[in-house]
Amino acid sequence: GVFNLAFDDHFLWGGATAANQYEGGYRDGGKGLSTADVMTAGAYDKPRRVTWKNPTTGATGGTPMQFGQAGRQVPEGAEPAVLPGEYYPSHIATDFYHHYQEDIKLMSEMGFKVFRLSINWARIFPNGDDEEPNEAGLAFYDHVFDECKKYDIEPLVTLSHYETPLNLAIKYNGWASRKLIDFFVKYATTVIERYKGKVHYYLTFNEINMIDMSGFLGGGIINATEQTRAQGAHNQFVASALTVRAAHKIDPDVKIGQMLAYSPLYALTADPNDQLKAQVDMQDTYFFADVQTGGHYPAYRLKKYARDGIKLDDTPEDYELLAHYPADFLSFSCYGSNTVTTHKTAGSDAGNFMAGVKNPYLKTNAWGWATDPQVLRIALNNLYDRYHKPLWVVENGIGWADELTADGKVHDSYRIEYLQQNIAAMRDAVTLDGVDLMGYTMWGCIDLVSAGTGEMKKRYGFVYVDRDDQGNGTLARTPKDSFYWYKKVIATNGEDL
Ligand code: BG6
Repeated sequence: GVFNLAFDDHFLWGGATAANQYEGGYRDGGKGLSTADVMTAGAYDKPRRVTWKNPTTGATGGTPMQFGQAGRQVPEGAEPAVLPGEYYPSHIATDFYHHYQEDIKLMSEMGFKVFRLSINWARIFPNGDDEEPNEAGLAFYDHVFDECKKYDIEPLVTLSHYETPLNLAIKYNGWASRKLIDFFVKYATTVIERYKGKVHYYLTFNEINMIDMSGFLGGGIINATEQTRAQGAHNQFVASALTVRAAHKIDPDVKIGQMLAYSPLYALTADPNDQLKAQVDMQDTYFFADVQTGGHYPAYRLKKYARDGIKLDDTPEDYELLAHYPADFLSFSCYGSNTVTTHKTAGSDAGNFMAGVKNPYLKTNAWGWATDPQVLRIALNNLYDRYHKPLWVVENGIGWADELTADGKVHDSYRIEYLQQNIAAMRDAVTLDGVDLMGYTMWGCIDLVSAGTGEMKKRYGFVYVDRDDQGNGTLARTPKDSFYWYKKVIATNGEDL
């Protein structure tokens, strides 16, 4: 309410993960391959590769992950494939599959109210287009959710987090095909029915706008063009609306959220051309929430499609569904801001997925990601003013090459400082501006594989996991200094930062 000076008692504090970066067990319990399972490890200056094999000629290779540009992710005639002698970080990751009891206990020690994880679609439907779900996969998540329940931790479940079943990518060009709508809705309704009473919050597509940057990552699209990506986004919107409709029928207590990658864009200068650039570039992000949360295609996107000659394979019913079944809430990832300019500047500063120029007021980490102490207040106000729906910060955090020191600890004061600033700004958005915020889940709460680079070295967690970039390590878990700090933050409901 208006007089609230802090987060209310229902505020959902916790942490976030994704199956392909955390779970491992990539063939356990009958799991099929996902797009993540054919991606190698890279580094800050070395892109990840998608490995492939041509079934006719037997030729093999690897193509760098594509961001932004159009083109095929694997050569014509080839199919993404797991190759001998290559290292794939998703296959074991940090092995949540065999450590879930230990990990959820650690989360409960910090006082987590919520744990964000994704269901690995290919664990439930190994080929994506199977008739029947895989019981062993369904049972695994039953165990996970029962474990959460033991500690009163609410699961927040992402249905698709960069892990499209590989067969759907190969057979249908992923989300470029309308067939994916039915496969996804079948998968979504299967799990929503199965976990009725255990799971109350779902997110459909992680960072849905990422499909525009990488069709393969965001939508299992092997042949990515503006046309196939636009169709992929449209198909995901329709699938989201159908999921909202089905979920509310299955269980009126279930809420389905959108998940958007959101970084406010700042103009480097007061030059109106820079201001306009920041505004227009932001449309690439807003488009996805205008449709999925707002319920309508915005005029600026339709104009762009008309200019670019993009024609959607759509039906009048699609647009009725979009208008009637928007997302119940809007969740987003936000790590910092990006800065743009029309002027020539020295030093472009690229995060892994986002590009921009260096903001002279902000410090960056070793991967070029800038810490912006006000970003969450700005982001929350922008999104609340535009959509008037409950919001949820489902990713925020800082990647760092943490080190386990001789005293057996990890002294991550830089992480505590980052989170202090970010949570303070988030608190201001709630207490000063009155934004309706459901919760906060810090990204990668237990160390996991980086999505952008595939590294272990880029760590985010409150808990250190003994594993390196070559796949060595005992997988032992060690709480970092930030673990005890976050425990205090949750215990005081965000008052004592
Ligand atoms: C988001 C993704 O882009 O940011 C996560 O939803 C990802 O999957 C996170 O891990 C951090 O990015 P990175 O590249 O540092 O892992």
